[in-house]
Amino acid sequence: MSSRRHDTLFVCQNCGFQSLRWLGRCPECGEWNAFVEKTDTSPSTRAKIPSSAPLPIPQISSAESTRIKTEISEFDRVLGGGIVSGSCVLIAGEPGIGKSTLLLQAANAIARQGKKILYISGEEAPTQLKIRADRISANSQNLIVSFQSEIGEILALIENTDPDLVIVDSIQAVFLEELPASAGSVIQVRESASRLFSAIKSKRTPLILVGHVTKEGSIAGPKLLEHLVDVVLYFEGDRTGPTRILRSQKNRFGDTTEIGIFQMTSEGLRETAEDEQLFLDRKAIYTPGNVVAAILEGARVILAGVQALAAHSYLAIPRRVANGFDYNRLLVILAILEKTANLRFGQRDVYVNVLGGLRVDDPACDLALAIALYSSLEDLSLPPTVAFGELGLGGEIRLVPALEKRILHAQRLGFQVILTPSHKGWEEMENVQAAENIREVLSIIRKISRREKVSDE
Ligand code: TYD
Ligand code: MG
Repeated sequence: MSSRRHDTLFVCQNCGFQSLRWLGRCPECGEWNAFVEKTDTSPSTRAKIPSSAPLPIPQISSAESTRIKTEISEFDRVLGGGIVSGSCVLIAGEPGIGKSTLLLQAANAIARQGKKILYISGEEAPTQLKIRADRISANSQNLIVSFQSEIGEILALIENTDPDLVIVDSIQAVFLEELPASAGSVIQVRESASRLFSAIKSKRTPLILVGHVTKEGSIAGPKLLEHLVDVVLYFEGDRTGPTRILRSQKNRFGDTTEIGIFQMTSEGLRETAEDEQLFLDRKAIYTPGNVVAAILEGARVILAGVQALAAHSYLAIPRRVANGFDYNRLLVILAILEKTANLRFGQRDVYVNVLGGLRVDDPACDLALAIALYSSLEDLSLPPTVAFGELGLGGEIRLVPALEKRILHAQRLGFQVILTPSHKGWEEMENVQAAENIREVLSIIRKISRREKVSDE
């Protein structure tokens, strides 16, 4: 490659592709008129990590850098025990989900420990932020808020205030003045983030960035930063309901299977005790098509309401809609039910839904979904039932991890019917009914259920 330095570069605002010439259409992503000139006066875009002499591995200190506790135990757990000094945490989520609320609460709790927090609010007016702060009683003197959004100014602020933690809310709202692109564009997000990283890495100050994602997948969203930061957390949930889940997507210092569960209240986010029944709808529980799945999220068991609706279809190709559950997995389960239990969904539109905005990946949810589908198809109303187990293509019900833990959890919450894969010693367990395959399960369901109405076929 030539070592000649080019003073200008053109960067695609859609995907970040760089070219030495201006191009009408981006060869990478196909976007038109997306190229903007970037004057290459900036230092390298890579974050600088303080250099050190190479060391033999035994001499490398493993003394875990100190962690700052947020004192919100759900948050700390997902972080792997707190915020590691010198690390960068990205909190991503849809607008309005509660990212700013969570961070202001955490910032206030940390500030109360005597640590100084610099909270950069690039999106909100001071009054808006103050109203939120009042709702959650954030009133620590050590919590310093700035409404600055220019990176140069923010870096100067970090230098002058020397905080113990920096929060930038959000990375899409801050910008570098010298770049011609607007805030939120690929190049601004990337450059702003890398300037912030360099500043904090050398000082060992931890940094939390907020990044918005939209349902459509935002242009310069957190995806761009995921590989650059140490921890990526997604804050999700159904905005119309109170439940919020903090999920770890990447964590260099902890377990990524951990999740944190919160309830949005009128006084901010509240942590949720393990035994609270979050994802259940007590009113819906007796309606046909409703079953509760005992799923594993990280180390804990969650009881999640699963709903299915198999309605008569007026379409040549019936509709299948999955909310909170993998669409292709739904198709597989429908095929298994057709083939092994002779259930007919060919003339039915099928909708499935997991309550509370939960997104279920645990294969143990298969059995609950299969029962919910059957229950809706046949209009069978079940007593409150918990089910879990993975379905094999031949209709067999496979064992899943943490079997006993799931059963105990369902028992503790008072469920009278607990359907599980067949396993050793189940006969002695209270309220448990185990089955080898889907046909056995359906025959149990027929015995315990009540037909809601005479089917119209
Ligand atoms: P916010 O933290 O501003 O979301 P984000 O930063 O992710 O965009 O939270 C927005 C929603 O939370 C808003 O609709 C109001 C609601 N909310 C409460 O219900 N209770 C509260 O105490 C607070 C502060 C916010
Ligand atoms: Mg916000």
